[in-house]
Amino acid sequence: MQATKHAESDRDTDSKAAHGASDTDPDAQYDFMVVSNRLPVDRCAADEPGCEDGWRRSPGGLVTALAPMMTKTDGAWVGWHGAPDEHLQPFSHGGIDLVPVQLSTHDIEFFYEGFSNATLWPLYHDVIAPPEFHRTWWDSYRKVNRRFADAVIHHASPGATVWVQDYQLQLVPKMLREARPDLKIGFFNHIPFPPPEIFAQLPWRRAIIDGLLGADLVGFQRSSDAGNFMRSARRFLGASVKQQQVHVKGSDGVTTHIARAQAFPISIDVQQISKLARDPEIIERARQIRQDLGNPKTILLGVDRLDYTKGIPHRLKAYEELLADGKVTVEDAALIQVASPSRERVEHYRLLREEVEGTVGHINGTYDTLQNTAVRYLNHNYPIDEMVALYLAADVMLVTALRDGMNLVAKEYVTARTNNDGALVLSEFAGAADQLKQALLMNPHDIDGLKDTIMKAVNMQPAEAARRMRSMRKQILDHDVDRWSSEFLSALEEKVIRDDS
Ligand code: F6P
Repeated sequence: MQATKHAESDRDTDSKAAHGASDTDPDAQYDFMVVSNRLPVDRCAADEPGCEDGWRRSPGGLVTALAPMMTKTDGAWVGWHGAPDEHLQPFSHGGIDLVPVQLSTHDIEFFYEGFSNATLWPLYHDVIAPPEFHRTWWDSYRKVNRRFADAVIHHASPGATVWVQDYQLQLVPKMLREARPDLKIGFFNHIPFPPPEIFAQLPWRRAIIDGLLGADLVGFQRSSDAGNFMRSARRFLGASVKQQQVHVKGSDGVTTHIARAQAFPISIDVQQISKLARDPEIIERARQIRQDLGNPKTILLGVDRLDYTKGIPHRLKAYEELLADGKVTVEDAALIQVASPSRERVEHYRLLREEVEGTVGHINGTYDTLQNTAVRYLNHNYPIDEMVALYLAADVMLVTALRDGMNLVAKEYVTARTNNDGALVLSEFAGAADQLKQALLMNPHDIDGLKDTIMKAVNMQPAEAARRMRSMRKQILDHDVDRWSSEFLSALEEKVIRDDS
């Protein structure tokens, strides 16, 4: 991939970028652009953990996956910088050129919290929470998608490659194609794509499929997601779908282009995690964590955004029953649950937080002793080195998602276990289950099954743990995030041979 930046103007701008960042040319053009709702950095207050010069790393797997590629690429990243109503000029941070898109308080309520996270998010995650459909939210979604598209149109050089990310921006590919047919347009959906029987509920289902079909290549985490998308394209737009190709027709019925839909399972920066896992200071920090917990025989760990898709209540229920059954005791085992704050103004997230905190309080009130605590609940964001220390300290990692596009925490844990020890309990409803077949796979709705699997992990013999871990590590080491992005981008560049067979 060739990515060059062309400075078109060197005039000064009146609005300066924030601390820790430097201004870039506001009219620079780029041969390669990534577009996502969030920029890799997010506004923060000086006293928040991980906040440096007013910025911290944005939450979520999307940034974890794309940031490493963008630091090595001479392209630009278009997205929101996390603060309402703040207008910033393009700037550079951590070696990446960033083009901020402004979101007003109203946009945050209607586009981000509303349509993105209270309509699409639950709809695309098996309707675990009931999605809400509001025309005012949809209006805002369209307007904000237009704003992101306009930012790209302004900054993309002729023939540039543009890679649009995730469910918040599904209308952008078509908006780009209409305004800039010269662009190569890719789209990647980081979350699941629902089966047509569920997608059917969305009043704007045709517009969403049509928006995505503006792309030359639409990438998904699992092949089942790509299959769901193609079935919806056929059912709701009457598109002709052959193999992985969707023939997109204009209003005159003539094929304008072919959009391909394919799975590209996302991964992590293996080098970064491996290096941290071998760092003596981090190894020492892991030892200290164990010691602070009283050196229990087993440390179990959960790391999630505080989201109802992650199955945190199921995990706590199983753990509470194991304590009640006497299968684990607070002297022998400790569960650390990192639950980073997320979408806190959306009602289902508020309710989940109350539920989780109530359950943790109940478990600890029932089982704690003066020396030992059953569940360490940490409602914070931690920097990556502290996360790796936690991965090294944990004997058992619990990933009990009810539905998850991929789950990169599972891949980070496995990568950090450079000694081939530790056990991964992994939900079959997380995309990672397609690749990590040697994890202890389970259905988190089946509490007895989950309890049995946790006990299997706790009691696993070192030889079996090593065999499983070696095989999972090989998979991830062979398929890191660089391979993910280069495979997607090479597929995007490929000439499409029409499959009319
Ligand atoms: O991958 C899913 C995702 O929603 C990303 O699009 C997003 O950046 C991340 O999780 C975190 O969510 P949010 O941006 O809503 O805090």
